[in-house]
Amino acid sequence: KIWLIFGTLSLAAFLTIVGVTAFAHGHTPAGGMDTIDPEKVAETPPFDKPGVRQLDDDTYEAVIISQAFGYLPGKIKVPAGKEIIFTLTSTDVVHSFTIDNTKVNMMAVPGRITHKSYTFEKPGTYLVLCNEYCGAGHHMMSTEIEVY
Ligand code: CUA
Repeated sequence: KIWLIFGTLSLAAFLTIVGVTAFAHGHTPAGGMDTIDPEKVAETPPFDKPGVRQLDDDTYEAVIISQAFGYLPGKIKVPAGKEIIFTLTSTDVVHSFTIDNTKVNMMAVPGRITHKSYTFEKPGTYLVLCNEYCGAGHHMMSTEIEVY
């Protein structure tokens, strides 16, 4: 009986923690509440001009569209030591934008806009992979970021 009560209380505690972090802190898979019509991505700013743009001296935005089986634009170039705000969506199914050897692991969800800020410390070429199974070409879905 003691272990049944312990198990039930543990489950209740875990579900409460998940619920609080999901709703109170906004930890949804897409992160935040920005929405977009997935059929009108190409016409909707900022996705009408995908790519990198400078916001101010220390901040850049990289606007990226995920679709089976690649990213738009393809290879991008960003500076090291500056904050890069990645802004991401998908036009079809769930993909991810995962930069190898970094903490960046974004989900690209149709209908949602995902943001993630990251500063590359070292120049180099960074591999980007899709780690959400998205169809027959999933294993080929990758790109590169050149950090200068
Ligand atoms: Cu896109 Cu897997």
